[in-house]
Amino acid sequence: MGQKIIYALRNKPGVKLIATSKGVNRTSVKEGYIYEPLDITDEKAIEFVINKYNPSSIINTAAMTNVDACETDKDNCRRMNIDSVRFMTTQCKLNNIHFVHLSTDFVFDGTAGPYQEEDLPNPLSYYAWSKLESEKIAEQAGIEYAILRTIIIYGVVDDGQRSNVVLWTKNSLEQKKNINVITDQFRSPTLAEDLADACVNAVLKRAKGIYHVSGKEQISIMEAAQTTADFFGLDKSYIKPVTTAELKQPALRPLVTGFIIDKAIRDLDYHPHTFLEGLAIVKKQLHNK
Ligand SMILES: NC(=O)c1ccc[n+]([C@@H]2O[C@H](COP(=O)([O-])OP(=O)(O)OC[C@H]3O[C@@H](n4cnc5c(N)ncnc54)[C@H](OP(=O)(O)O)[C@@H]3O)[C@@H](O)[C@H]2O)c1
Repeated sequence: MGQKIIYALRNKPGVKLIATSKGVNRTSVKEGYIYEPLDITDEKAIEFVINKYNPSSIINTAAMTNVDACETDKDNCRRMNIDSVRFMTTQCKLNNIHFVHLSTDFVFDGTAGPYQEEDLPNPLSYYAWSKLESEKIAEQAGIEYAILRTIIIYGVVDDGQRSNVVLWTKNSLEQKKNINVITDQFRSPTLAEDLADACVNAVLKRAKGIYHVSGKEQISIMEAAQTTADFFGLDKSYIKPVTTAELKQPALRPLVTGFIIDKAIRDLDYHPHTFLEGLAIVKKQLHNK
């Protein structure tokens, strides 16, 4: 997401963009913005970068996002997903900075999706709990904040290190590898570019509160994989159906999520692509690489 927001904001008139991440800049295009290495678990480093650039808004896309790794390495998850948000929001309070923070459909237990913003969270895993805690920190910091909850993001990543349901399905089937795909989890896949636009609008409108920002369609992971296979003309026989119970992953996942996105459409001028339109955008980007 960080990379997509760079592409959405770099060269935008009136915007000075400072992009940060751990280590060297892995985004292909290096022009149109400033890059600062920043480890967000380092409170002093955050303070240093904020004092250096005095931003009016921060968009926080960094997190420990591997749900099973969070379950087995809770200390790191807490440092990345909770402590870092406390460090950032403390600086936002001191410097009157608007904070845009990404969160997840996993704050819900998946018994009553699709969800609206007012529905009651009930996280099932440590990752989900950590993201809900981060939301509470933003809400209680006495700052202007917008929390954008989203759902399985897909898109093309510059350095190829991150995968997602679309790239994973496409790459596996191209290599004629069998993949186990879950049949009983339902989500609204979100095109990374759509979410980036929502983040940018949240900044430009100085939006406040919680927003549900996802694709429009609620489909199973299996349907997402099969649609991807069909779209790219790949052999679906490598897709093996599996249930959540059979997969026995370390962290529990909500079964049925999906979002009601009316608030984002109204307040953030959010107009997501359909999943098929999103696949066409992914195909074009892969072609241009
Ligand atoms: N991906 C999804 O399907 C999904 C679904 C719902 C919600 N979300 C939320 O959306 C947000 C963005 O997700 P994403 O998919 O873009 O995540 P991602 O691909 O895992 O990216 C997270 C980024 O955080 C960076 N990071 C890790 N530790 C750091 C540190 N100590 N200091 C600075 N940066 C650090 C990572 O850098 P390295 O590359 O060096 O590790 C990585 O670039 C997250 O808040 C996530 O919880 C994601």
